[in-house]
Amino acid sequence: MTSGFPRPTELAQVWIREVIQPGDTVVDATTGNGYDTHFLAECVTPTGKVHAFDIQQQAIDAAQRHCENHHNIHWHLASHATLETHLSLARAVMFNLGYLPGAAHTCITTVSDTLAAIDAACCILQDGGRITIVCYPGHSGGDEETSAVLNHVAGLSTAWQVVKYEKIGTLRPAPILIGISKRQFPLAKSTR
Ligand SMILES: C[S@@+](CC[C@H](N)C(=O)[O-])C[C@H]1O[C@@H](n2cnc3c(N)ncnc32)[C@H](O)[C@@H]1O
Repeated sequence: MTSGFPRPTELAQVWIREVIQPGDTVVDATTGNGYDTHFLAECVTPTGKVHAFDIQQQAIDAAQRHCENHHNIHWHLASHATLETHLSLARAVMFNLGYLPGAAHTCITTVSDTLAAIDAACCILQDGGRITIVCYPGHSGGDEETSAVLNHVAGLSTAWQVVKYEKIGTLRPAPILIGISKRQFPLAKSTR
């Protein structure tokens, strides 16, 4: 047992697991090596679906190898900004921004596509659904993207609950986890 707090990527899976169940449709918006894709596929098996997006063939190949036992994943070699052209409803969307671990740092998520994809994720999210975003300040382009994402989600309407998890006092800039939850409004009371 560890006495430390979870890493943002671990906590993101905890937050997502709380709202998804077998049969749901969910999205990995940055599939990378496929760790979150695999986690999502396990959670929604056997009847649910995972839509996995990445713009690099190298990432899709690695993720497919990692998830070879799962047949409920739709692979999209496409930007997450195109999310809404591929599906219209999802219980959860996970983002893990930045670059593919172990690959060149030249292919990174960008402010314009990331913000467009967050808006698209909000549009397709079911009531009670959640979005998680892990941002990485500290790498080239990461500071700008993290600030842009934080500003953007801070401007969401009261239909959304937004939280931030961040370790403080670290030697290097620490990753930040943002959680976005779509509130479930009770049905209007009858006016008898
Ligand atoms: C930090 S990695 C994701 C790690 C992944 N969640 C895992 O479990 O291994 C970020 C990924 O985002 C991908 N990416 C960059 N821009 C993208 C975009 N516009 N749409 C979808 N994926 C993108 C990169 O190619 C990279 O593989």
